[in-house]
Amino acid sequence: MTSLVLTIVGARPNFMKAAPIHDAFVAAGAEHEIIHTGQHYDEAMSKVFFDDLGMPRPAVYLGVGSGSHAVQTANVMIGLEQVFIERRPSLVNVVGDVNSTMAAAIVAAKLCIPVAHTEAGLRSRDWTMPEEVNRAVTDAVSDLLLTPSADADENLLAEGRAPERIVRVGNVMIDTLLKHLEAATALRVFERYGLEPKGYAVLTLHRPSNVDDPATFSKLLEALLDIQGKIPIVFPIHPRTRLRLDTNPVAERFKKAQNIRLIEPQGYLQFLSLSAHARFVLTDSGGLQEESTALDIPCLTLRENTERPITVDSGTNTIVGTDPDQIRQAAAEILAGRGKTGRVPELWDGKAGVRIFEAITRFLATRTRTSPR
Ligand code: UD1
Repeated sequence: MTSLVLTIVGARPNFMKAAPIHDAFVAAGAEHEIIHTGQHYDEAMSKVFFDDLGMPRPAVYLGVGSGSHAVQTANVMIGLEQVFIERRPSLVNVVGDVNSTMAAAIVAAKLCIPVAHTEAGLRSRDWTMPEEVNRAVTDAVSDLLLTPSADADENLLAEGRAPERIVRVGNVMIDTLLKHLEAATALRVFERYGLEPKGYAVLTLHRPSNVDDPATFSKLLEALLDIQGKIPIVFPIHPRTRLRLDTNPVAERFKKAQNIRLIEPQGYLQFLSLSAHARFVLTDSGGLQEESTALDIPCLTLRENTERPITVDSGTNTIVGTDPDQIRQAAAEILAGRGKTGRVPELWDGKAGVRIFEAITRFLATRTRTSPR
């Protein structure tokens, strides 16, 4: 066993969580490598984030690519097993809730390598979401549960996890946001699309439950068509959603709408620039619910639930679901000046990466032998 710690990344929302962790290890002179499964592989979905965030090239890139859940998860597992056997890390750190997260945690656990889960304990209790399965399985096999907020601690305790395994480290994605906010804001990306600060909304949409079912997707598009009549909408479109849009009956009208700016997936800095200057955000992403709370910009979440309730209780997030009337109504409230304001939760302070490094170091120092979870 070496003192090497590996952080596994695979998909877009992992990269901004891994960067501050890597920085904290490097600053302390500790051994840390990033392993990329290649779940996301397009330049716009992956490489641009490494460039924007100043991350080194991954030590290993597996290139597993897309596939069904079983195929993708299995390919990540097969690739990582070899990597873990060769590198013999002292601990594997997994982040977030994507398929690569769960696959990496299972492989490490079965090789008796300790697993830390960054962003442990979040629960939507919506078992139709693949991420909910990933979250529960990952936490079940993790030795060290690094949580972003008190609700996550409570979920883990309610599931019977030992309190000494749970360390609340705060929200590591907000480290990245705070580090890059000034530079991103100065980019004024909205100017490229002929928009004014606070004169547009930003939209992201990619959940299978929203875009894979044509009826639900059409309903959402109709609501968005109404909203763009009142305020321009910038829509960086995820590859999954692009595929679905091309075959949707509402697509023709949607693509031609005067005030929809349908643009390619954006890099980290470009996207942060767009959201930082937006009037409000419409999304089904998990990360963006948190980023808009950190930016104090109203967020309308186009889902029936969230695994991030703190963004609703303390922050600027409103769960509006997928009912078009409710979405229109919530947007109208914001445009009438009655948008939600909030406060930034505790430990969303830019120092979570350092706390994660410290928690992992402490864990490894006190661990004398392979202990049961
Ligand atoms: C994945 C995560 C989701 C996360 C999202 C962020 C899982 C189960 N889902 O969903 O939690 O919110 O990433 O984007 O892990 N594709 C490309 N280029 C790419 C990547 C994907 O064209 O670089 C296309 C492919 O057609 C692919 C589809 O997008 O089949 C879906 O990609 P996949 O990684 O399976 O899931 P996401 O929807 O991106």
